[in-house]
Amino acid sequence: MNIDELKHLKGVRKVTMLTAYDHRMARIIDRAGLDMILVGDSLGIVILGYSDTKHVTMEDMVRHTQAVARGAESALVVADMPIGSYESPEDALKNARRLIDAGAEAVKLEGYCSQEVRALISSNIPVMGHLGLLPQTAEEMKVRGKKAEEAERIAADALELDELGVFSIVLECIPMKLARRITESVGALTIGIGAGLYCDGQVLVINDLLGMDRGYSPKHLKVYVNLNSIVTDAVQRYMKDVRSGRFPDDKHSFH
Ligand code: KIV
Repeated sequence: MNIDELKHLKGVRKVTMLTAYDHRMARIIDRAGLDMILVGDSLGIVILGYSDTKHVTMEDMVRHTQAVARGAESALVVADMPIGSYESPEDALKNARRLIDAGAEAVKLEGYCSQEVRALISSNIPVMGHLGLLPQTAEEMKVRGKKAEEAERIAADALELDELGVFSIVLECIPMKLARRITESVGALTIGIGAGLYCDGQVLVINDLLGMDRGYSPKHLKVYVNLNSIVTDAVQRYMKDVRSGRFPDDKHSFH
């Protein structure tokens, strides 16, 4: 998948994106046929164990982008720019180049930061925007754009990002009607998470879709498999086997 092929999918078929943070998972979802892999800064929460994405560093993103890029043969790899890495056009350019060198084919920035986006695009670095709920700066994780004024702001930001030339915009936790209006008004692909079915595509955090965190079930999340229970069961069966002397048996031993 390259950016041009992806952009041609607008209005033709839905685009699929999931996050991944390591090589093995990237390889599985790439081989399953996914269009885009996002090395999200959600890695701060689901991999590094922080309570939010505010502690994720460029070093974290570079290392995990390298791992994912080694596993992705067909899917387009997009890397998140972590908080603090795009506070000026110069910083944005320097840090985006590090992510591209690590194997990303595009970078994602949260919010409407026109000068930074312009600097990247004019240096031929493809950019994915991110509007609605912005986890890097949000104080409260709640739906955005329910009130008219905020909805207008998000719609206007989307139009401006589109004019700047972003190839795609993540719309996080906004009402589906607003997502539909934005999707119909921009040339960029809209990728929704908690933004309803009218977006051009969807993204979820892979760990959430796989049911890794038993207690986590926000309204927008569909859990496709309960890996938490499956892994717990496998670990407990292993413990039983080891404690009872059933493992390793003859078949799993060298002679
Ligand atoms: O960091 C992330 O995983 C994201 C997605 C939720 C869009 O930004």
